[in-house]
Parts: sequence; C-alpha cells; structure tokens
Amino acid sequence: MTPKTLFITGCSSGIGYVTAQIIKQRGHRVICSARKQTDVERLRNEGFETLRLDLADSDSIRQGVNELLKLSGGKLDALFHNGAYGQPGAVEDLSRAVLREQFETNFFGTHELTNLLIPLFRQQGHGRIIYNSSILGFVAMRYRGAYNASKFALEGLADTLRIELHGSNIHIVLIEPGPIESKFRQNAFAMYKKNIDPDNSFHKDTYKAMEARLQKQGPAAPFTLPAAAVADKVIHALESKKPKIRYYVTFPTYLFGYLKRLLPVSWLDFLLRSVQ
Ligand SMILES: NC(=O)c1ccc[n+]([C@@H]2O[C@H](COP(=O)([O-])OP(=O)(O)OC[C@H]3O[C@@H](n4cnc5c(N)ncnc54)[C@H](OP(=O)(O)O)[C@@H]3O)[C@@H](O)[C@H]2O)c1
Repeated sequence: MTPKTLFITGCSSGIGYVTAQIIKQRGHRVICSARKQTDVERLRNEGFETLRLDLADSDSIRQGVNELLKLSGGKLDALFHNGAYGQPGAVEDLSRAVLREQFETNFFGTHELTNLLIPLFRQQGHGRIIYNSSILGFVAMRYRGAYNASKFALEGLADTLRIELHGSNIHIVLIEPGPIESKFRQNAFAMYKKNIDPDNSFHKDTYKAMEARLQKQGPAAPFTLPAAAVADKVIHALESKKPKIRYYVTFPTYLFGYLKRLLPVSWLDFLLRSVQ
C-alpha cells in the first residue's frame, strides 16, 4: 500500500487525536492541527507533525494552510474535517450570535478550509475530503438545534460538492458517528455554561437533566463506541479505491438511518422525543 498524506483538524482530543495515532501507526503521514498553541506543542512532543488552525478564524485557516503546504511539499492526499463542537440549548434560547458562533467553526471554517485545498486537489488530479458529520447531520434531537443545523448544513454542502466534483477524482465522504468516547460532552458543557441562561429559560427544569448528561463520567448513551471506530472508517475512506459516500458508525446511526427512510416524520418525532 502506498503511504498517503492526511491532514486532520481538531486533534487535541477525541476522534481527531485517536485517528491521527491510528493512521500514523498504519504507516501513513499524518499532519495534525489543533486550535490551541499548548495542544500544538503537546502533539509535537508526542512526535506528530502539527500546526495551529482555528476554524473560527479566517487568518488562522490561511496561515494553517500555508504551513501545511510547506510541510507537505505542496502534496496532500486527503483532508479529514474533524474539528467542531456542540452548542447545547433549546432553539428558542439560541441567540443569533450564539448560532453564528456555532456555524463559524462547524460550517464556515470547514467550508473555507475545503475551498483553500480544492485547487491543490485539482492540480494533483486526486484528493479526498472526508467530513466528520454525525447522526445529528440527518436526524434532529432536542436541545441540539445549533449543532444539528450546523451538521445538516455541512451535509447539504458536501452533497452538492460531491455532485459538482464528479469526474474530478476528488472524492467527498461523510462519516456519520453516533455516540463516541471523546471530550465532546465536556466541551459542549463549557459552551452551555458560556452561552445559555437556564434560570431565565422556559426549559429551566429539563436543562437539569441535560446538565447531568453532559457532566456524566463515562458513556452517557447506550451503544457508545471508542474513537477508533471512526478511525476505521477514515482508513477505508483514505485507502479504498472506491471510498463510500457515507459511513455509518454505531448502532444508533444504522437504526435511525433505516427508520428515517421507513417512518412518517410524525412517528420518527415520537421516537426522537424520548431521546434525552
Ligand atoms: N463524540 C461524539 O459522540 C460524536 C458523534 C458524532 C460526531 N462527532 C464529531 O466528531 C468530531 C470530533 O469531536 P470529538 O467527539 O472528538 O470531540 P472533542 O474531543 O471535543 O474534539 C473536538 C475537537 O475539535 C476541536 N475544535 C473545536 N473548536 C475548534 C475550532 N474553532 N477550530 C479548530 N478546532 C476546533 C477541539 O479543539 P479544542 O480542544 O481546542 O476545543 C477538539 O480538538 C466533531 O466534528 C464532532 O462533531 C462526535
């Protein structure tokens, strides 16, 4: 197998970190990025080629891409769009600014990075753009409206891009994990504390259960898988001659992917209302 060069965003923890380790161990070249300088240094000390890239900041994205191209000698086989966070909160409690902040990272930053690398992929005559979407990129769940909207938007953009890039040998891949072990809930809880005012919300009482879920140690949902389950799909998307368009990860994604095609929306809503 010819070693590939893969660039990953959001490698400070969770799926990005574990995927970087696994892909590197398989003999590929991994270039990692992290938002905070302290994480960049930690990853470098661990032996990773790492650069700083904050998806919420256009200058940082441009600088990151310049550094990436210098490091990789202007060659890149694949990009794994992994960096993102979840902004919890009922839709009616999300201000325009908070929703915009969610989109700056999960959607606009991701899009900007894609567009900076497509010319390179076109010039090379090949490339793979792998998006870490979510089960929440195709089903909606309570108190996850900002994140849901950002991942639905990402899926729409990726689907369009795939059609536009047909025949270019640039593959567009969506990975759709359900619950995965990572710092996702811990980081989401910090964004909840920062941006939501539960005391002045209609949803005050239900937020208590949400707070407990976000702060729970260990898996908070059944069928949670380790981050390596996502890395397995990244390996296939990177190495396979014909990567899939969508990769489901975890039982809930398979289940809801099936139910979404099968059930009327009102029945699906009934089921989804029971998800905390
Ligand atoms: N865990 C799950 O159950 C699950 C399920 C489906 C999909 N996903 C997706 O998996 C991906 C990775 O999440 P995770 O579960 O591994 O959670 P995580 O441990 O919280 O990792 C998220 C990563 O994204 C980074 N990030 C956040 N804001 C960023 C920004 N503005 N610029 C660059 N990087 C930024 C974080 O960096 P900092 O440390 O600096 O914040 C961190 O490295 C995300 O796209 C998430 O939506 C996760």
